[in-house]
Amino acid sequence: MRTQVAIIGAGPAGLLLGRLLERAGIDAVILERRSQDHVLGRIRAGVLEQGSVALLDRAGVGARMHAEGLVHGGIAISFDGDRHRFDFRALVGRTVTVYGQTEVTRDLMRARDASGAKTVYEAEDVSLHDLDGDSPKVRFVKDGIAREIACDFVAGCDGYHGVSRASVPEGALRTYERVYPFGWLGILVDRPPVSEELVYAHHARGFALCSMRSPTRSRYYVQVPAGEKPEAWPDDRFWDELRRRLDPETAERLVTGPSIEKSIAPLRSFVAEPLRFGRLFLAGDAAHIVPPTGAKGLNLALNDVGCLAEALTEFYLERSAAGIDRYSDRVLKRVWKAERFSWWMTSVLHTFPETDAFGRRIQRAEFDYLVGSEAASRSLAENYTGLPL
Ligand code: FAD
Ligand code: DHB
Repeated sequence: MRTQVAIIGAGPAGLLLGRLLERAGIDAVILERRSQDHVLGRIRAGVLEQGSVALLDRAGVGARMHAEGLVHGGIAISFDGDRHRFDFRALVGRTVTVYGQTEVTRDLMRARDASGAKTVYEAEDVSLHDLDGDSPKVRFVKDGIAREIACDFVAGCDGYHGVSRASVPEGALRTYERVYPFGWLGILVDRPPVSEELVYAHHARGFALCSMRSPTRSRYYVQVPAGEKPEAWPDDRFWDELRRRLDPETAERLVTGPSIEKSIAPLRSFVAEPLRFGRLFLAGDAAHIVPPTGAKGLNLALNDVGCLAEALTEFYLERSAAGIDRYSDRVLKRVWKAERFSWWMTSVLHTFPETDAFGRRIQRAEFDYLVGSEAASRSLAENYTGLPL
């Protein structure tokens, strides 16, 4: 088999890249290790920046997002019981849209199925070859049969644990990492959200977040120590803990119910540089991870492939390598700003085992400064709604 771009991974990054290339008339095959249902069963991010919404529109997959997504003009932060709303529309004239990663993925899969573009699900033992030459190859096993795709480029969109980054020779990538000593325990519940907008909460017992997927489906998170198991958290324990961490007014309005999903995500900051090795490009979680505070992971992944699609289109349609040569530097500038914002928001809102009384006062001062300073509020709003490329 031959294609122009072999895309590894059918998460949001791989699927959006496939869609953008298809619209530019560039042939691509997507190889995904899991089944379509497995990919759709993962409950992950929920908030889209305005730029991500525009990108999905450009890809022609925005109709359901506009019909069903919830446009939010701000967020609230509750700090030790004091709640403040940050009005993004007033501060920076921008909004975010609550529309789950599952739905973004579903829309992209439907568009791909409708166009007949090729995706191989349950592709086993994917391996990358000859990345430093002009004609790389991707080998995999499907239904017990070994196959090979010859291509011009490989796009590594296969997440943090994928094969793409691992295929780059030792020493060709530099990595930067911070692992946090806690995770987020999340539950999904078919009950109306506690508030129309998201509430991020800091409390001495730990961070909490009230989010949602629709007017009738809520997503809640509490910070738990690293290594904790979801089985240790029956629903009643989760609700009690969440209520204790919220300000009294929010806690009062909480409508509980049986969870329909419960999982724990570890928190990590990670960047690999550069995002290119020969004919391989890394994008999304394969290249970088942010802690979820600030909702940047999915947005960075979408932005990366928006840039990569532009660069590859320039290569094929204008016969210019300038875009692909610039891809890594261009994307990393924005990635590091999102890394900074996610790290900062994580630092202010979580409880760290090593934080002493001084550290707690600094966290409080951060909150008071955010609330009291228009410049600080605007900085939060500007970063949360998404920085320009
Ligand atoms: P992924 O979505 O990880 O997609 C990669 C795809 O590649 C997967 O489908 C995988 O099966 C496939 N793959 C992996 N290895 C191979 C292989 N060898 N061969 C072929 N295919 C392969 N972000 C937020 O903003 N908020 C959140 O609440 C949030 N929660 C998260 C919870 C979890 C458990 C995780 C892991 C991430 C979460 N994120 C969250 C981050 C966000 O979901 C990611 O940033 C986003 O999924 C990145 O998209 P991606 O397409 O780059 O990678
Ligand atoms: C959600 C996840 C986030 O990481 C975040 O900052 C906001 C919302 C969510 O899953 O809804």
